[in-house]
Amino acid sequence: MKEKVINLNVIFLLLIYICNSSINSIYAQTAMNNVSARHCTNLNGKWEIIIDPTGAGDWREVWQERKPEKKTDFIEYSFEGGPLLNVPGDFNSQKTELKYFEGTIWYKKTFNYDLNKSKRLFLHFGAVNYLAAVYLNGNLLGKHEGGFTPFQFEITNKLKEGENSIVVRVNNQRLKDGIPCLGYDWFNYGGITRDVNLIETTDSYISDYFIQLKKHSLKEVLGWVRLDGDNLSQNINIKIPELKVDYKTRTNIEGLAEIKFSMDLKLWSPETPKLYSVIIQSENDTVEDTIGFRSIETSGTKILLNGKPLFLRGINIHEENPLKAARACSESDALLLLKWAKELGCNVVRLAHYPHNENMVRLAEKMGIMVWDEIPVYQQIEFSAPGVTGKMDLMMREMVSRDKNRCGVIIWSLSNETNPSESRDKALINLTDKCRRLDSTRLITSVINDEDYKNNILNVWDTLYRHFDIISLNEYLGWYVPWQGLPGDVKWNLCCNDKPVIISEFGGEALYGSNYGPKDEAASWSEEYQEQIYKDQVKLLEKVPNLGGIFPWLLVDYRSSGRMHPVYQNGWNRKGLLSEHGDKKKAWYILKAYYDSIKNTH
Ligand code: GCU
Repeated sequence: MKEKVINLNVIFLLLIYICNSSINSIYAQTAMNNVSARHCTNLNGKWEIIIDPTGAGDWREVWQERKPEKKTDFIEYSFEGGPLLNVPGDFNSQKTELKYFEGTIWYKKTFNYDLNKSKRLFLHFGAVNYLAAVYLNGNLLGKHEGGFTPFQFEITNKLKEGENSIVVRVNNQRLKDGIPCLGYDWFNYGGITRDVNLIETTDSYISDYFIQLKKHSLKEVLGWVRLDGDNLSQNINIKIPELKVDYKTRTNIEGLAEIKFSMDLKLWSPETPKLYSVIIQSENDTVEDTIGFRSIETSGTKILLNGKPLFLRGINIHEENPLKAARACSESDALLLLKWAKELGCNVVRLAHYPHNENMVRLAEKMGIMVWDEIPVYQQIEFSAPGVTGKMDLMMREMVSRDKNRCGVIIWSLSNETNPSESRDKALINLTDKCRRLDSTRLITSVINDEDYKNNILNVWDTLYRHFDIISLNEYLGWYVPWQGLPGDVKWNLCCNDKPVIISEFGGEALYGSNYGPKDEAASWSEEYQEQIYKDQVKLLEKVPNLGGIFPWLLVDYRSSGRMHPVYQNGWNRKGLLSEHGDKKKAWYILKAYYDSIKNTH
């Protein structure tokens, strides 16, 4: 049989996979995808904890869970008899004594598992913010750094008869070489913030797959499937029953197979968010996913969805349920935020500034809302510090790995507002190239806010944009930056004239119902002041060359400890168009009217 020529992407993936599984094995594995469709035993619920503000648990080795043996023994820690926390969920919002806690919390959960000899077992975390060290029965399984992407450990041969005990060391202290690093304008919710599952698989299982339309195509699927285990060369079926697709291929000796077939299908779009049941079958494993198919690309200064010009009516959202003042983690949290976005007239959401819960991405796709997915390479990152570019690379790969089959995701964003420097440019250019090699089907960008504003001229000069598919810039004219002339008279100089421009942030603060001072002064935090910013921004936006979309900052007030004015902010960033109680501010109506006015023309 003519040896299939597997395209470079597949080989590139294989190299990543081999090096990822071979680097110091104490590092977590990249998680298998589509966890909800796997054979899961959910470990959500109450976990015992030890609050460890001084790090004493490290030298006491609390993961050993020692018990007194002799009458004269005593142990100065115990999970039993201690407090409990809900998983998933941040720890800051669950106990008043943890409200501002940044340190180590030890979590414990026990489970029994009867694993059949022919099966494998993995321990999977949806996310842990920020550093995780995971122990099973007193032995270190491994570690993970990064607060917003999934990871897993194989525990097949590490189980014991009867009760098994998981201990997780979670630390959310800020790190100078962290991603994000020391300063960021959102609340540092620590904890096991997403689902924890035991996942049982067959001995050689379908660990990953990528099934999306080939770049620029409206009917050709180009992807791959990968097996993990000992028996790697297997017959593979990809079925889409509704389209009578039953594509057959075979994985090579490394467990990889390219997927390439054409079909007539109903394309996914915000108006028709069509998803298909896709069944991926090997000789001993089956995984079912719901996958949509669409084409997203740029053509000169236009963004095209399924070949037609698209204007992104966006909004920024942080992963927080403001009604609970907590990290969003449930389906209902996701629905609350996405219904608010839909009501505003949005067709896309920027999930700032980090990958949100997978339930948010999947629900947006079902609701016909496109997604801007971003890693927290945010502001003051130490690009030249040892290990930082490796962490960026890992976070990008973990984001792409989890969400690559979500057609609703149209943009990978690899940074936000980082300062110009040689080390930054080198790091982001490399990361962009790697991201494009991993997934050529989506738009790739980074957000920059170093444009010059003089004499009512905005000079967008940063040549880093040459490496991105879209020019994404934040501007706060009317709030941080006073106008230098009429908003409608602002002139634009763009370093690149051949790409779409996205205003990825603009806005200003207002305290809902504020009646503390003159309405036309920023320091009153009046709704009227914010409303005027939006009126002026609409005039500005109508003159932006090559404008492909906008993402006002942001949907709803959210917690950020640096927002310290005791009357107007009280630990909340007040740039929301909604208050933390969901009340519509006056500016909400300005944006709503603008989106209603353009939704049929753009
Ligand atoms: C910045 C940044 C946001 C921040 C916002 C603000 O542009 O990207 O993360 O919250 O401005 O100042 O409110």
